[in-house]
Amino acid sequence: MDKGLVLGITGASGSIYAFRFLEHAIRLKLKVECIVSETAERVISYELDKPFEEFKSYFSSKGVRFHSPENFFAPLASGSYLKEKFKGVVILPCSVGTLGAVANGIVSNLIHRVCDVSIKENIPLILAVREMPLNAIHLENMLKLQKIGVKAFPISPGFYGKPSTIEDLVDFAVGKILDLLEVNHQIYKRWGL
Ligand SMILES: Cc1cc2nc3c(=O)[nH]c(=O)nc-3n(C[C@H](O)[C@H](O)[C@H](O)COP(=O)(O)O)c2cc1C
Repeated sequence: MDKGLVLGITGASGSIYAFRFLEHAIRLKLKVECIVSETAERVISYELDKPFEEFKSYFSSKGVRFHSPENFFAPLASGSYLKEKFKGVVILPCSVGTLGAVANGIVSNLIHRVCDVSIKENIPLILAVREMPLNAIHLENMLKLQKIGVKAFPISPGFYGKPSTIEDLVDFAVGKILDLLEVNHQIYKRWGL
């Protein structure tokens, strides 16, 4: 069976990135297990104008498995399970709080644990960070992670594809993330192709 993806959603702005990522992953028939931080639940409700439970039940009905961020007993907390079942871990959007925790080996929830385990097991890990401006601590944390093979990925959509909707802009970032994970897709128009 093809390996799936873990999606961690944190309380940074940009819930729509997670929403579109899940929509595309489902369409591409990728198996996704998802962890949503406590603050992310509230940001999702606020930014997407729907209760988090609606978001969760919509994607659960399409096969996405959700885990509580407090549940360190989840199989995802184990290195052997992660390595066997997943081709990568994506944190989208990633807050600078979660970035800081991961860069410094602090594990206070299941999202941090999955990132920590991915690093020790060499599982591709992408932190799609959303904050502006970035301070020196954020930049140092990103550099620290990039040096050990983690992709610190500031969400920064390009305009050369002539986006006409918010979804076009969001999909550009989602597509770039899937490129890093070597998933075949046509989500955004590539320059020159
Ligand atoms: C509406 C809203 C928008 C936020 N946007 C950001 C953001 O873009 N980037 C960020 O790093 N934190 C942002 N935060 C703050 C984080 O939610 C907060 O630091 C939280 O503790 C992050 O925890 P988590 O990474 O476990 O979700 C935002 C908070 C709210 C309520």
